[in-house]
Amino acid sequence: MTLLSNNLNLEHKILRINSCESTNTFAKELLSKSEPTEGTVIITDKQTKGRGQFGNIWLTEDYKNLTFSIILRPTFLIPSQQFYLSKITAIAGILTLNQITNQDFKIKWPNDIYFGDKKIGGILIENSITTNKIIDSVIGIGINVNQTFSNKNSTTTSLLTILNKQLDIDSVLFEYLMNFEKLYILLQKNNIKEINAIYKSQLLGINQKRKFIDTNSNIELTAKVKGVNNIGQLHLQSNGNDLFYNLKEIQWIF
Ligand code: BTN
Repeated sequence: MTLLSNNLNLEHKILRINSCESTNTFAKELLSKSEPTEGTVIITDKQTKGRGQFGNIWLTEDYKNLTFSIILRPTFLIPSQQFYLSKITAIAGILTLNQITNQDFKIKWPNDIYFGDKKIGGILIENSITTNKIIDSVIGIGINVNQTFSNKNSTTTSLLTILNKQLDIDSVLFEYLMNFEKLYILLQKNNIKEINAIYKSQLLGINQKRKFIDTNSNIELTAKVKGVNNIGQLHLQSNGNDLFYNLKEIQWIF
């Protein structure tokens, strides 16, 4: 069987809204009420109830940051492959920020975008799944662009803080969409090996010893980051043992 790939043409499907609770929530409502074209991008300068992972709030200053969601119908993926959406979304973020700044951003497993030990972007992916396929997916991305932080010890950063200059938020969006589209085509073509290789090469701490807390036992451990397995678990090595962690089972210590 050959899989045909089709371009999403994301830059031609942008829906700008003045304000909304969350672009992910807006996208999910669109999906429940209508049949939005695959590749619809919802963007706003003002989210009143931005959502993060694990039910957290995603709070960013209005008009200063990039907050958007992409609607996909990745029906070619089976549910156990859903982590690939996470991978390409994070890789697109890294490529975009590296291109724009000429700096070295990294993916903190599973899909946070980091500069050094500070977070600059986050990803919230919400999939509708049946037993054998992913029907639709809302890919939500937040990147701090022109926000300033008064607290020098803040654990988050922005492009303005790193570059010391304001950036045009739309140009970050367009660069991102271009990168995302290329990666989505790789995924449509089942080019898993290439996606895995890029993801691994951009992983924070790869082949380095890092400190973590095992959240089940509450024990601190120092372990080498080996990568991520097929189902998206973090692969660590400690005292010659291979350890695999699900989301929430492990926390990084910086
Ligand atoms: C996280 O790191 O916890 C994920 C943050 C995801 C934030 C983005 S901003 C655009 C989209 N809309 C939301 O409500 N959340 C995502």
